[in-house]
Amino acid sequence: MDEAFERRTECRVCLARELVEFLDLGEIPPANGFIDTPDVDESSFPLVVSVCENCKHVQLAYTVDRELLFSEYHYFSSRSAPIEDHFERYAEDVEQTYLDDTDDLVVEIGSNDGVLLQFFEGYDRLGIEPAENVAAVAQDRGIPTKTDFFSESVAEETYAEHGAADVIMANNVVGHIDDLQSLMRGVDTLLSDDGTFVIEVPYFVELYNGNEFDTVYHEHISYFSMQSFVALAERHDMVIGDVQRVPVHGGSVRIHMQRSSTAQRAQLVDDLLSLERAMGLDQVETYHSFAAEIEEYRTQIRSLLHELADDDATVVGYGAPAKGNILLNYCDIGTDVIDFIIDTTPAKQGTYTPGTNIPVRPPDALDEADVDYVFLLAWNYRDAILKKEADLRETTPFVIPIPHLDIV
Ligand code: TYD
Ligand code: ZN
Repeated sequence: MDEAFERRTECRVCLARELVEFLDLGEIPPANGFIDTPDVDESSFPLVVSVCENCKHVQLAYTVDRELLFSEYHYFSSRSAPIEDHFERYAEDVEQTYLDDTDDLVVEIGSNDGVLLQFFEGYDRLGIEPAENVAAVAQDRGIPTKTDFFSESVAEETYAEHGAADVIMANNVVGHIDDLQSLMRGVDTLLSDDGTFVIEVPYFVELYNGNEFDTVYHEHISYFSMQSFVALAERHDMVIGDVQRVPVHGGSVRIHMQRSSTAQRAQLVDDLLSLERAMGLDQVETYHSFAAEIEEYRTQIRSLLHELADDDATVVGYGAPAKGNILLNYCDIGTDVIDFIIDTTPAKQGTYTPGTNIPVRPPDALDEADVDYVFLLAWNYRDAILKKEADLRETTPFVIPIPHLDIV
C-alpha cells in the first residue's frame, strides 16, 4: 500500500463491487495509538463502515496500512485474567473434540503472547504472530512462534516445515485481516483433509443489538454475521460444521469450518441465518436505520457529559480500552469534560489518549482526586468493575455509555 490508507471497492468476502457505506465515524487516529506527549501531530484516517449488497458482509470502507497499526502492538492477551480463563476452557474444548495424538499439529494465527497455545502443551504447536514484541514473549515461554502475518505463502512454508495442521485457530484476528481470500487459500493449503479451522470473532448481531459502535476501529476490518461466514465458507468449498456463541468481547461466535467433502452444516447455522433475517440484516435499509440511531445516540452521550462539565463536575474515565478512544473521538469528548482516565495497564499509564489527549493514570490517581462522576469506558467489564468499586460507588455515580446510557 503506497498511501497510509486505501479505499476498498470490492467486498472482502464475495468480491462483488456492491459496497454501500452506511456509518461514518469520522477521521480518527488508530484506537491503540496512545501518545507520550499531548498536542503532537497525530495521523487520522477515515473510519467508515460499509455493507455488501450481495452477501451482506459488514466491513470498513477504507483499509489503513497494517504496518501503521500492528508493528508494535500494546495488547498482551495474558494480562487480562478473564480472557486467560476463557482460553483455558476453549483449549479443553478443542482438544476433546479434535485432537487425539501428540503428533497432531495445532496452528494459531495471531497467537499473541501464546495465551491459548500454552494450553496445548504436549502437541505439536505453532503460533504465527506479526507483532515482534508480542511474539518474543511467546518464544520466551517456549511456544514456537513465527513472526509474520499469515498468508498463502506463509501457509506453504509452514506446510513444508510441519506438514498438515489438524486444527488451525484464529481468535479475534480474522476480523483484522484485509485479504480474506488469501487467508482462506492459506487455510486450504495448510489444513489436513479432515481438519478444522476454528475462528472466534465478535458477532455482528451483538454489535447491532448492543449499540457497540465503539468496537468499530481501523484494526477491525470485518464484522461477521452468519450470512457473511456462510458466503466465505462456500466460496472456499468449506462448511460450518459447528458454531457456538461465546460471551467475550461484547458477544462472539466460534465458527468451526471444515471441508465440505468431509462435513455438514450445523443446524445452528440455519437458526442464526433465520435470526439475522428476522432482524432485517439481509436488507441494506436496516443498516442505514442503525447508523441513524447511532448518530442520535452520539448526541445523547455528548450532551450528558457536556452538561456535567458545564456544572463543573469532575468526571474521570475508568479504563482506557481501544474502544474508549473511538467513543471519545466520535462523541467529541476531550479534556474539557474528562480530567483523566485510570487504567491498570502499566504501558498505558503516563500516556495520553489518541485524538483526545486525555492523560491516562494508574488507578490510585482516583484516591487523590475529588471525583463527582466516573465514566466507564471499559463497559465490557461492567459487572466486575462495579463489584470491585463498591466503596467508590457509595459516593460516586458511574456513567455507563453502552449498551444504553445509564447512570448507576
Ligand atoms: P479491553 O476491553 O480488554 O480491550 P480493547 O482495548 O480491545 O477495547 O480493555 C480493557 C481496558 O480496561 C484495559 O486497558 C484494562 C482496563 N481495565 C482497568 O483499568 N481496570 C479494570 O478493572 C479492568 C477490568 C480493565
Ligand atoms: Zn459480499
